[in-house]
Amino acid sequence: MSKKLGFPEGFFWGAATAAYQVEGGIHNTDWAKAGRDGIVPEITDGPDHYNRYEEDFDLAKSLGHNAHRMGVEWARIEPEEGKFDEDAIEHYRKVLKALKKRGLEPFVTLWHFTLPQWMADKGGATSRHFPKYFARYCKFVVNELHDDCHRWATMNEPNVFASLGWLEGVWAPFKKRQLFKMLWVNNNLVKSHIAAYRAIKECDLVTEVGIVKQALFVHSDWKPWNKFAAWVMNWFWNHSFLWRIKNHLDSIGMNYYQHSHFGKQRTERQRNDMGWEIYPEGIYYCLLELKKYKKPMFVSEAGIADEKDVYRERYIKDLVYWMYRAIENGVPLKGYMYWSLTDNYEWAEGYEKRFGLIEIDYETKERKIRNSALAYKKICEENALIIDNHQS
Ligand code: GCO
Repeated sequence: MSKKLGFPEGFFWGAATAAYQVEGGIHNTDWAKAGRDGIVPEITDGPDHYNRYEEDFDLAKSLGHNAHRMGVEWARIEPEEGKFDEDAIEHYRKVLKALKKRGLEPFVTLWHFTLPQWMADKGGATSRHFPKYFARYCKFVVNELHDDCHRWATMNEPNVFASLGWLEGVWAPFKKRQLFKMLWVNNNLVKSHIAAYRAIKECDLVTEVGIVKQALFVHSDWKPWNKFAAWVMNWFWNHSFLWRIKNHLDSIGMNYYQHSHFGKQRTERQRNDMGWEIYPEGIYYCLLELKKYKKPMFVSEAGIADEKDVYRERYIKDLVYWMYRAIENGVPLKGYMYWSLTDNYEWAEGYEKRFGLIEIDYETKERKIRNSALAYKKICEENALIIDNHQS
């Protein structure tokens, strides 16, 4: 016996990318410099999405998608302080039109971790002036492109950016154990989001301005100190940022990848190629956690690094199942973007980790659809998950 779990009409199904990770050929950012300095794997032309976006969008369409999350690169658009590059904007205008032409609703993230080198030289996200520069850039882009895109996110995963950059030191600017700087950066990013939100709204545009927030499912055993630790972590990771920007926010994009358990966990799960436990039901608890903000929500990323494509299909189906349950429980979820459309540059891990629905041969640039992408295609086309008495 099979059962059809239908999604609301007009639900957005697609995949997500980020400019620096897929475009290739971006050399004037702090990450590109770190690559040249040998701190992280160097960026190449990668999937070369900058030149092959039409081919990639044809594939997305053939896979049943009706939406796509992408990024624009600050360093391309404002390569020098205050100098905006018309050709770069024109390029992104064409990209947006290419999406529209194929019936793919665009969701655009204005800033996804990488900084133009000039901004990094001024102190990057630690600079007092960062909110001002950031808001100016966001306003410029939205002003130019608002005819072709109505759903914007100011920034991607601010807490992850601050923690990996100033506590763990594995992402730009590679600072370790600088707790106060990390908190300062978080605070500065709250201000930057609000400044950008206001600047965009000043243009009097009817456009949705949200954020992309990573969510962590935090749980614990029964021990009071573990419960307390979980409470603190949940507050920090899931709420400390959103709570402060909630009055300047039209929608929430939620990225889900991981869970964190305090105390002894009964069973260890299978791990993916990133070494993360495969824990799809965490997405359900995260969606319920963020429901309290009463904003339209999107799963702006959730996916798996799985080079051999053995776990991806099951994982996608499980995620979708838990999204269905979340909607049943009143979560205003409007769409899901699998991370990622194609294999791409996975930050400190380089090109080795493969998240794509589509496999990339980095030598020939050949695209190959993975089997799991076809399973996802069925879900997108049916606007439903068909289950065979599985999950309870
Ligand atoms: C992040 C980003 C993506 C990653 C993805 C897989 O969470 O770091 O939004 O850029 O590539 O999450 O790790």
